[in-house]
Amino acid sequence: MGDWGLKNRLARMIKPSTGRSVMLAVDHGYFMGPTHRLEKPRETIGPLLPYCDAIALTRGVLRTSLDATSETPVILRVSGGASVLNEDLSNEDLTTSLEEALRLNASAVALSVFIGSKHEHQSLVNLAKLVDEGERYGMPVLAITAVGKELEKRDARYLSLACRISAELGAHVVKTYYCDGFEKVVEGCPVPIVVAGGPKFKTDREALELVRSSIELGAVGVDMGRNIWQSEHPVSMIRAVRAVVHENATVDQAVSLLESSKLPARKTPGSAET
Ligand code: 5RP
Repeated sequence: MGDWGLKNRLARMIKPSTGRSVMLAVDHGYFMGPTHRLEKPRETIGPLLPYCDAIALTRGVLRTSLDATSETPVILRVSGGASVLNEDLSNEDLTTSLEEALRLNASAVALSVFIGSKHEHQSLVNLAKLVDEGERYGMPVLAITAVGKELEKRDARYLSLACRISAELGAHVVKTYYCDGFEKVVEGCPVPIVVAGGPKFKTDREALELVRSSIELGAVGVDMGRNIWQSEHPVSMIRAVRAVVHENATVDQAVSLLESSKLPARKTPGSAET
């Protein structure tokens, strides 16, 4: 079975016991700089690591902020080359080689695709090339659709198009955003979909609602950042997200879990909730 390695890497991230995954996204700095509450990645990541099924980050943060003894599967971001200071965020290229991803023992590589943007062609060809290389070495590729300014086009028609094109070019997993009519996005995408959280909601409940709706409508999980680590209670929040993703908890159950885990966590000396 030539694709054993690729399947094994996928199974490290998308848990075979539930078919679902809670991926923790901390790759924002590669174009946003020291994002609020991710200023010191090691401090943000440490308390959350035990509760995620995989962590999405760049090689710079991996090397500096994650111990090599970590058992958490790594989704290595391998695209970049633009920053928030530039009008055009779509001008990305591959910034990390597959050889480096293998050396870093990544479980997957991730890149952004900018469908409908100025550099659509370049990002899609990069995806296809990365898939070719990934298939050669058993490395799954996660395509990230609609980031940055593309978020303005957050509707089912656009996201269906972006996810389908990513899958057609060979992505093994697609990350996208929740939207009205999300079931259509899932329906048209023959590979697993994970959902990003986007900017922080006013309340944790709203983020949990997004997680629940995404799962109900067919996502295999989340690849979520700001709504976890910008929460006032990041550990309680990721545990609540896990309950929805892996145990089918309702929003009310997840909010109860979140509320009940806040107080004891605050009283425990050295707790991540302080
Ligand atoms: C940054 C990303 C993020 O990983 C993605 O947006 C998920 O994080 P958040 O839940 O904070 O949106 O791709 O480029």
